[in-house]
Amino acid sequence: MCGIIGAVAQRNVEAILVAGLKRLEYRGYDSAGLALIDAQEEIVRARVEGKVDLLAAQLKQHPLHGHTGIAHTRWATHGAPSEKNAHPHMSGSDFALVHNGIIENYSELREELIKLGYVFNSQTDTEVIVHLLAEQYKGSKDLLTAVKQTIERLHGAFALAILYRPEPQHIIAVRKGSPLVIGLGIEENFLASDQLALLPVTQEFIYLEEGDIADLHADKVLIYDAHGKSVERKIQHSDLQHQSVERGAYRHFMLKEIFEQPIAISNTLEGRIINSQVPDEIFGVHASKTFEKIKQVQIVACGTSYHAGLVARYWLESMARIPCRVEVASEIRYRNPVVQAGTLFVTLSQSGETADTLAALREAKKTGYAATLAICNVPQSSLVRESDLVLLTRAGPEIGVASTKAFTTQLVALLLLTIVLGRRHGLTNEKVLLSELQQLPRLLEETLTLAKPIEKLAEQFVLKNNSLFLGRGAQYPIALEGALKLKEISYIHAEAYPAGELKHGPLALIDEDMPVIAIAPNDDLLEKLKSNLQEVRARGGKLFVFADAIVAIEKHPDIQIITVPSVSAVIASIVYTIPMQLLAYYVAYLKGTDIDKPRNLAKSVTVE
Ligand code: G6P
Repeated sequence: MCGIIGAVAQRNVEAILVAGLKRLEYRGYDSAGLALIDAQEEIVRARVEGKVDLLAAQLKQHPLHGHTGIAHTRWATHGAPSEKNAHPHMSGSDFALVHNGIIENYSELREELIKLGYVFNSQTDTEVIVHLLAEQYKGSKDLLTAVKQTIERLHGAFALAILYRPEPQHIIAVRKGSPLVIGLGIEENFLASDQLALLPVTQEFIYLEEGDIADLHADKVLIYDAHGKSVERKIQHSDLQHQSVERGAYRHFMLKEIFEQPIAISNTLEGRIINSQVPDEIFGVHASKTFEKIKQVQIVACGTSYHAGLVARYWLESMARIPCRVEVASEIRYRNPVVQAGTLFVTLSQSGETADTLAALREAKKTGYAATLAICNVPQSSLVRESDLVLLTRAGPEIGVASTKAFTTQLVALLLLTIVLGRRHGLTNEKVLLSELQQLPRLLEETLTLAKPIEKLAEQFVLKNNSLFLGRGAQYPIALEGALKLKEISYIHAEAYPAGELKHGPLALIDEDMPVIAIAPNDDLLEKLKSNLQEVRARGGKLFVFADAIVAIEKHPDIQIITVPSVSAVIASIVYTIPMQLLAYYVAYLKGTDIDKPRNLAKSVTVE
């Protein structure tokens, strides 16, 4: 999704902005641009459709200089990806602006501004903001006042960074619904959509609150809250090293992140098991009191995080005996659900900034849930800040758009939640579950040795257009996740079905061109699954079965078996995720797609 970066310094900031854009690339985008105020006090601008590298090449040919500048990667919402629609947008020669988010009332504002004589050069909603700002400025002749008046008229969620030509000494930034962080340097200050973009220049950050306006100078940052009151916001030090967001020896971030899962899971578990118990307090100081009143759980998330929620439903109901519902955020936020007393509202999110999940949380806080809990990977995110209880997944920065280590660490966090809630409802095997969890990093290391055979297997998928993933019980969501991974990065159509449902439709699709991937750990439903696989085989389907060594699967030329380490039924969901990720990765690799930044997708979807 769109990324913003800005800098005010004593040096030329062109290279800093371009490097920042590179680091924001992972969010997903289709065009890029930047604007600086140069030594002649003119706004100079460069924009391209396509990659940041293209912008960098253009700037190499025609360098721009300036101490104050803003830059942007755009993920098209209003108007196709094109140079004209790329940010920064300008009003006359005085105002330049970059924007993340959506302005819902842009068409009425656009008409109003056209009547006032403003000429639009793009199809974006963003351009209305910059013209509106120019219009407001005519009245107040004060930039900050004009910005305040402008945002009062905007409906929607947005983050903005603004340049004003006659005042080259500063940038104004606004955070309303979309994330923005200030980075503090020495005699230079920065802003960006996330801290990862700024790690090479600073480790000191201010996370703006909802409605904040920041006035950034090289030597000071002034912040005003939603009511216009001057406020001090806490400076937070980040321990993240900028190398932690580098690819190292791996071909893609996704592969690096798949291989980081054993360590990511160790980090998620660290300090969370004390004397063979999970202390309630890992969810927050008041967690015990809250958990006492919990009678059911509502999980809400999007994309891969939603699949983690689906796995947790099996765990919470079968082991903790707590009713659990799971829903995608974009649906529940508009559905006006019936909320039963004692329901814990749990959001799952890698980024903590997904617009639908955040909106669902805000809605939930008005509708009688007992408490809200965020299971999230980004400590400073809006989701974390706005929830009563929090469990951080500690997966480390995830750059590949297709989520991997965030998912498996969410599953670990959800198993910890199942344990703390379950022991109040008769769960007795806490110690067994914990010892299995502690073995996970080692088991995942072992499972990762499947990379080579799976790379070979992937060759059989490259020319396919469709695929079907099957699982039963808590492996069904893993089939869904396997299918999602494959479609996201290889663009092969992939569907997932609970295997028992095959006969009610998808069997009609089976032929030799439709690979069928089955997840077959040694669990209670194994024999049922095997019968379902027979149904596929009998219709000439080609089967790829990921199975435990002790699972006796019939030998047949149309059945390929990939042996996965023996694990218990509970942690099988986590372990069997790994081969699904590897399969998607190697198929996409062989197809030559842009694995870390697949077409049309964004890492952090901060618009509705
Ligand atoms: C986007 C990403 C997915 C991710 C989903 C939810 O669609 O491409 O990988 O699963 O957002 O993101 P979240 O940060 O809330 O987990």
